[in-house]
Amino acid sequence: MIYEEEMAAVSDELIITTDDGSKGIKALVTQPLKELLDSDKTISLVVAIGPVIMMKFVAETTRPYGVPTVVSLNPIMVDGTGMCGGCRVSVGQENKFACVDGPEFDAHKVDFESLMARQRMYKPQEKQHSEHFAGKKEGGCKCHSH
Ligand code: FES
Repeated sequence: MIYEEEMAAVSDELIITTDDGSKGIKALVTQPLKELLDSDKTISLVVAIGPVIMMKFVAETTRPYGVPTVVSLNPIMVDGTGMCGGCRVSVGQENKFACVDGPEFDAHKVDFESLMARQRMYKPQEKQHSEHFAGKKEGGCKCHSH
């Protein structure tokens, strides 16, 4: 856990969830979120920052309640200046560049499926690179001849 004390200091209430229950509630974040949305009709904004799949399901949880929801997107970025297009995301049927137009967007307008597909684009290369460095650590690179 990081920033637990800092989050508690600026929150009326801090609810922690973990996949394995090692801290806080053993649940996905959407479970207490839905309970809050059911019990507190004054919630005016939800902000979700984290893995894309989590942000997608937070958006789907808040959508039926009509609660404005903001997500902070982290697509693949290359130049960070709006020139390369690497960080392109589809928001409300429009192409946006997360580096200059975001990274915060209206969660209910984000095309999470295309974002997740784009994030998987370099998985084989990432895996190969990880294995390369693991091999280096263990005394020998397994994917290149040096
Ligand atoms: S990172 Fe290149 S356009 Fe955003």
